[in-house]
Amino acid sequence: MTDAPRLPRHIGIIMDGNGRWARQRGLPRTEGHRAGIQTIRPVMEAADAAGVHHLTLYAFSTENWSRPREEVAALMQLFEETLQREVDELHATGVRIRVIGRQDQLPNHLQTVVAAAEELTRDNTQGFLNVALNYGGRAEIIDAVRQLARAGVDLRTVDEATLEGALYTAGSPDPDLIVRTAGELRTSNFLIWQAAYAELHVTETLWPDFGGRDLEAALADYAARVRRFGGVPNPR
Ligand code: FPP
Repeated sequence: MTDAPRLPRHIGIIMDGNGRWARQRGLPRTEGHRAGIQTIRPVMEAADAAGVHHLTLYAFSTENWSRPREEVAALMQLFEETLQREVDELHATGVRIRVIGRQDQLPNHLQTVVAAAEELTRDNTQGFLNVALNYGGRAEIIDAVRQLARAGVDLRTVDEATLEGALYTAGSPDPDLIVRTAGELRTSNFLIWQAAYAELHVTETLWPDFGGRDLEAALADYAARVRRFGGVPNPR
């Protein structure tokens, strides 16, 4: 009998390289973001086909506000349009959408679309799509501590399970695999608590060029890793 293929339950993706993709073509950066949006569906489909039902996409970090004002505005507009356009189909396929990050600092229009998407899909259980928007891992931990304090929890008793229960991702399994496109070897404040034991897969491919095949390559790379969780290698 052969081993079942080793599959992550949850994949986090740092979608990088939209700007470089655009520059290579002499296009404005926003066109790179537009092209990057087209990548999401095939990647979600490949993940689903492989049996991975939790995805978290890093769309906008708490640090990304320092980009040129026009680029930030264009990104916010794209997030809004994309969520609005895709929500019904995602709902029809049983996907629950969650936006993780400091939502209250997003433009009001976008907050409204986010709230509607989360509400519509809240009971879905076929797939789980977290979109990290105005997200920072450190901010998330601070928000969790503040939430516990507001709820009157005695902070002297806080343990890992209590803190995890107050993170934006409460209820999701930890990501087993973080994929980063466009070659940088950093995690950039992404899921820093949850990805403590995650395997990293970095590819030079720019996000708009990434596709189902690349996701399959990341899964094959993951399957070949020996995970230790600080102990001895797990038996095969
Ligand atoms: C990184 O490329 C990409 C972003 C900051 C934005 C990514 C967002 C999307 C692809 C859209 C996602 C939309 C939804 C609704 C999930 P970069 O601009 O940092 O590229 P560079 O490093 O080459 O300049």
